[in-house]
This record gives sequence, C-alpha cells and structure tokens, in this order.
Amino acid sequence: MRVINSADRMSSLAESVRKKGKKIGFVPTMGYLHEGHLSLVRRARKDADIVAVSIYVNPTQFGPKEDFKRYPRDLKRDLSLCRRENVDFVFVPSSEQIYPEGFSTYVNVEGLSESLCGAKRPGHFKGVATIVNKLFCIVKPDIAYFGQKDAQQAMIIKRMVLDLDMNIKVKVLPIVREPDGLAMSSRNKYLSLDERKRALVLFRSLQKAGDMIKSGESNPRIIVNKMRDLIKKQRPTKIDYISLVDTKELKPVKKIKGEVLVAVAVYFGRTRLIDNIKLKV
Ligand code: PAF
Repeated sequence: MRVINSADRMSSLAESVRKKGKKIGFVPTMGYLHEGHLSLVRRARKDADIVAVSIYVNPTQFGPKEDFKRYPRDLKRDLSLCRRENVDFVFVPSSEQIYPEGFSTYVNVEGLSESLCGAKRPGHFKGVATIVNKLFCIVKPDIAYFGQKDAQQAMIIKRMVLDLDMNIKVKVLPIVREPDGLAMSSRNKYLSLDERKRALVLFRSLQKAGDMIKSGESNPRIIVNKMRDLIKKQRPTKIDYISLVDTKELKPVKKIKGEVLVAVAVYFGRTRLIDNIKLKV
C-alpha cells in the first residue's frame, strides 16, 4: 500500500496505472473510517484492479459554525484499516495541495443542492462537489463509491459526473447500521451514551414511516407528524428536517406514490445526525 501526499504524484501514478489498462476503483473519504467506508472499499476491491482511498477533511464543505476543527481524525488507524483491506493507494493531501493560494473555481450543482441538507447547510454541497471534482481529476477513477447514507450527496455527484461528461461510474451502496439500527457515521463518536440511545429513534421513525406507507398511508403530512412526535419524545436539541421527497429532484412530495426518500436530520446534543430510507409504493 502506498500513502501519497502529493497531488502531482497521485495523478501521475493514476495515469500510469490507467495506461496499463487497469481499472481504478476510488473511495473518497474524510477519514475516521468505519464499516460504512469499508463496505465501499470491499466493493471497490471486487470491481477494480487498483483501489484508491482518499482521506481529507475538506474545509470548504463545513459552515463557519460547523465542526471542521473538531471533526474526528485518526490517520494511523485509518491507514491500518486500509492496509487490512488491501488498498493500493491512500491519497492524503494537505490543504495547501488542494486549495493553493488564489484558488477560485467552484462547482455548484443547482437544483439538487437546494433542498434537505442544502437548505440547512448553505454552501455545503458546493464544497462537496468541488472537492469530489478535484479528487476525480487527480485520482482519475473508472468507478467511484459513495454511501446511501448521504443520499443527497450521492445524487449530486451523479448529476455532476453526467453534466460534466466525466466518464466515471458512480456506485451508491446501502447504509451500514450498528446492530441496534444507528446508521454508521464518523460523527457518532461525538454522542454521549445517553444521546446515542436517544438517537436510535431516527431509524425507528424511518421504519415507522415505512410501515405507514406499506399499510396505505399516502399523505406525507400525516407521516411527518407521526415521525416528529416519535423523535420529540427523545428530546432532540433540534430537528433540522423530516422530509418525504421524490428520488429524482429531491422535492417534497404532496402524495406518496412511486419511489420516495424519507430523510431526517436531527441534532442530539451538538451532534447533527442524518438518516434516510428509500421506499417504493
Ligand atoms: O462523504 C464524505 O465523507 C465527504 O463528503 C466526501 C465525499 C469525502 C467529500 O469530502
């Protein structure tokens, strides 16, 4: 396994691998790896000849009052996990490499970036699309892997790849959950024991929505109200959103039919957690 800090070096290694006709599978991450990330790495290992992982906590996707500084980091542990999964390249750039002085080009995916997390975290998806674009330019993957937990992010990346003719296959893999249902996230580390217990309501509320839809409820307002009641009982600090949206434009649905995404973003303590399920009627 090679650990690469220089963007030029990463780019030329990727170039030479591609010249040999080898397929690069790429998993971009912000580190503090968990089973969710590892499921992506394992799929990449199956699909591709060369597996590349990037580890970079991207400052431009955090708002000024968000958790960039305290975002969990443990490079040593991340590298040993990557080694165990037979990763070929781990790209760990510095911010000087990624955003050199004078940097002024950003990617903004309109429409899809405006609802759900985009409405609550202004600029977040512009930061995500920009860094992913840059990483794609440097790592030159054939296939890139993202988790369904960040459903909106995955759709935005797919849109960007299509719009900019990037010729990269984007694969989105299912949410990996703890045995008790909590969706895996690097931010789970912030939760106290009590907050973690209360946060289990997120998945429970999504399951409740699923049950209601399966038994014929088609009014999203009734479902959102039920979910809100359940979540409120667990004393969240703040509910950012509980939304039922379509899976093409991520716009709120008026009546549930076809495929819907039920998505939540809720704070427990200072920790903002997101989760979702996709349902077909
Ligand atoms: O999902 C993440 O961890 C990040 O948003 C990503 C895709 C690595 C970009 O920084």
